[in-house]
Amino acid sequence: MTKAGLEDVVAATSTICDVNGKEGRLIYQGYDIHDLAKHSTFEETVYLLWFGRMPTKTEYETLVKELKANRQLPATVIKVMKDFPKTTPPMDVLRSAVSVLAMFDPDALDNGREANIRKATRLTSQFPTIIAHWDNIRNGKEPIAPRTDLSTAGNFLYMLNGKEPDELSTRSLDIALILHADHELNASTFAARVAAGTLTDIYSAIVAAIGTLAGPLHGGANQEVIKMLLKIGEEPKVEAHIKKMLEEHKKVSGFGHRVYKTEDPRATHLRKMSEELGKREGNLKLYNMSRKIEEMILADKGLYANVDFYSASVYYLLGIPQDLFTPVFAMSRISGWTAHVLEQYSNNRLIRPRAEYTGPSNLNYVPLEQR
Ligand code: ACO
Repeated sequence: MTKAGLEDVVAATSTICDVNGKEGRLIYQGYDIHDLAKHSTFEETVYLLWFGRMPTKTEYETLVKELKANRQLPATVIKVMKDFPKTTPPMDVLRSAVSVLAMFDPDALDNGREANIRKATRLTSQFPTIIAHWDNIRNGKEPIAPRTDLSTAGNFLYMLNGKEPDELSTRSLDIALILHADHELNASTFAARVAAGTLTDIYSAIVAAIGTLAGPLHGGANQEVIKMLLKIGEEPKVEAHIKKMLEEHKKVSGFGHRVYKTEDPRATHLRKMSEELGKREGNLKLYNMSRKIEEMILADKGLYANVDFYSASVYYLLGIPQDLFTPVFAMSRISGWTAHVLEQYSNNRLIRPRAEYTGPSNLNYVPLEQR
């Protein structure tokens, strides 16, 4: 029996992430996302996803050191990026820069686990640099070199804005990175696993994942959400705008989920962060508009906000340019993608499903000149 969109099809076993759509629970390697968001850091979460357990203090410090040491991009990659058209969408830049990076990786020809962990470390370190450098380059500025004394979140905001972020901004982004790090067999992770299942290299798998995340039904939705909020512009206009969208049977970005049929536990944290950051700005407009939309969609469609809904106002309030929202998602999800690629390699079987053929049969070939 064909399942449109592979809904509810179990396509792999995995210890990395459990999504319980009925109860609205998200677990990384046995740890509840609420605990991780409260107590962990993105770097510690990366360790957890890759190695299947929490690090000791030494293991944690070693990974943090490695992640900091690998932030620089090879000069040629920066040179190539400077030649890209300035209007190139940042997700396309990320996808292309990762392809170029593959050619400079000293472990490029080694597909063993140790080499792949080194590659995963480099990719996780270099994603924020690619994204921030691109924003500098397209604005006619020299890229701001990464610092080695800041966290992944702090360094990214520093490279983007040229000034060290405050604690609230750094911790907000850090939590957002924890929340986005993995999500079982979402479309981009599945794409990465399908690629890895052919035993192609990790860079190829990640390029496939980046292209898949970019779509508006997946990670691209956070950018659509901010576009919608800014288009609506003010709270009193929310009702008419959303009513019209629903009447026209348009999808409202940031709502609905293939697996969650209740509150997405990531949205719980992002909603709170959106409010906190709004209060800091002395402007709760985006938060209030978002709350109103949330109420309307739940009442009308029975749909809950997903991870992309409140991350939009959070990123906006952190001063992140709108078209970098999906790349910021990728900056976190690279940890989950690489964890899944490592898991796929460790117990690989080619992923090759079947299609139910619904086309014609027994047609007779008619030579071109007789058609
Ligand atoms: N707004 C309005 N209606 C919606 C929405 C929405 N956001 N999402 C689903 N629906 C409706 C559909 O129109 C459909 O109604 P119908 O049965 O009357 O035709 C029904 O709910 C089922 O929707 P599907 O698209 O078939 O559900 P599916 O499980 O395939 O899709 C998806 C899930 C893609 C997330 C969908 O809810 C959607 O398009 N949401 C908007 C985009 C979005 O926010 N994507 C990010 C998802 S989270 C992530 O990827 C990180």
